[in-house]
Amino acid sequence: MTDIKNIITLGVGLMGEGIAQVALMAGYNVTLVDIKDELVDKAYNGIEKGLKKTEEKGKLGEGVTAIDVLARCKKSTDLASAVKDADIVIEAVIEKMDIKKQVCKTVMDNGPSHIIFASNTSTMSITEIGKDCGAPDRVSGMHFFNPVPLMRCIEVIRGEDTSDDTFQKTMDVAKSLPCLRGNRYIAPVLKDRPGFIVNRLNAPVQIYMGWVFDTAKDKGIPWENIDADAGGKMPMGPCELSDYVGLDTMLHVMNYYKETLSADFEPPKAVKEMVDAGNLGAKTGKGFYDWSAGRDGIKAKVKGAEPAGLFNLETSMAILLNEGCRILEEGIASGFKIIDDANMAGMNSPGPFAAGKKNFEKWSEILEDLANKTGKDYLKPCELMKSGGFVSMRK
Ligand code: CAA
Repeated sequence: MTDIKNIITLGVGLMGEGIAQVALMAGYNVTLVDIKDELVDKAYNGIEKGLKKTEEKGKLGEGVTAIDVLARCKKSTDLASAVKDADIVIEAVIEKMDIKKQVCKTVMDNGPSHIIFASNTSTMSITEIGKDCGAPDRVSGMHFFNPVPLMRCIEVIRGEDTSDDTFQKTMDVAKSLPCLRGNRYIAPVLKDRPGFIVNRLNAPVQIYMGWVFDTAKDKGIPWENIDADAGGKMPMGPCELSDYVGLDTMLHVMNYYKETLSADFEPPKAVKEMVDAGNLGAKTGKGFYDWSAGRDGIKAKVKGAEPAGLFNLETSMAILLNEGCRILEEGIASGFKIIDDANMAGMNSPGPFAAGKKNFEKWSEILEDLANKTGKDYLKPCELMKSGGFVSMRK
């Protein structure tokens, strides 16, 4: 264990709120910090609700009540003074580099000399965030998955300047945070590359999904028929998952990979149009689906739909295997077991390597065909996949 006792969760939207809840459940003193009282109050109320639910299920510990846990939770809209007695700041503010850099500097300028700044960014370089803060050795990444209390994975990222001590302490804090669904899984990310492990692994599936969405739209195929293609084998079909993550987020993320990985990440027209119309998915109540009646209606719609025959799960697995091999080639993860385990813990879906060991030759052919059909060269199989060389890179 570390000597970390006081945690600040900075930026308390959905992710920050979840992080604060699990940090409180782990026994830390937590200060919620955001720019407006309303935002901090909303998160506090959400945490209270989550803790009460956890208490009702007897999962807060013997004789521990939500009120006991909340007694360790403070609120603030003044970061500079809140950090004075903090040991680590876990940041989940808006995904804008200048804002991340600015809050990182505020933390280092005003916090104690041991304070760690851990960013929950999913699309930004940890190295860049910490570059001008005066203490880049104390900046790391701590990437959570949504919803934080239920998704087991946390990726801990080593930026180019992160010290061994900072990396280890960040790993220790991550390991100490409980999860309401099974044991936490902490994936060490050895290189600060776009998407880290889990998001990078899944990123090019968006190129494929984008092609599926635009083809379906051109042919007038309803969205539930696309989700029916997943045949209940994914926790959410591609349309529902995109709505759940947020269509604006999908657009933002694809544009990011377009800049950092390949021009083939051009976002699909279907999603751009929905975002332009203000339909961002679950959070606005409308996207691919109408969310006003909750998830049950969507689930029923998908269950009753004919599969469209456009989205193929084996093809997505082939895409995952290819990207997993690129992750190994770039030295981001030390072996394929971590990639498979992190995907299961972060997406509730199996990673590609267990099945990929037997299928890499067939899947390489699937990808050659897909690249030709879609005109997206990024989907072509890489050498490590085609050769099966990854098989010996387990750990
Ligand atoms: N505190 C306490 N309890 C909570 C809670 C909280 N904060 N949040 C939810 N719960 C409880 C619910 O009340 C519910 O309790 P009951 O079973 O008693 O009703 C229980 O936990 C389960 O909640 P749900 O019914 O909502 O859960 P579900 O079974 O429908 O599963 C899901 C939901 C986990 C989201 C599942 O659909 C899933 O795995 N979806 C895929 C999610 C995914 O892929 N996430 C990753 C997105 S990518 C990302 O996050 C990376 C990034 O960079 C942004």
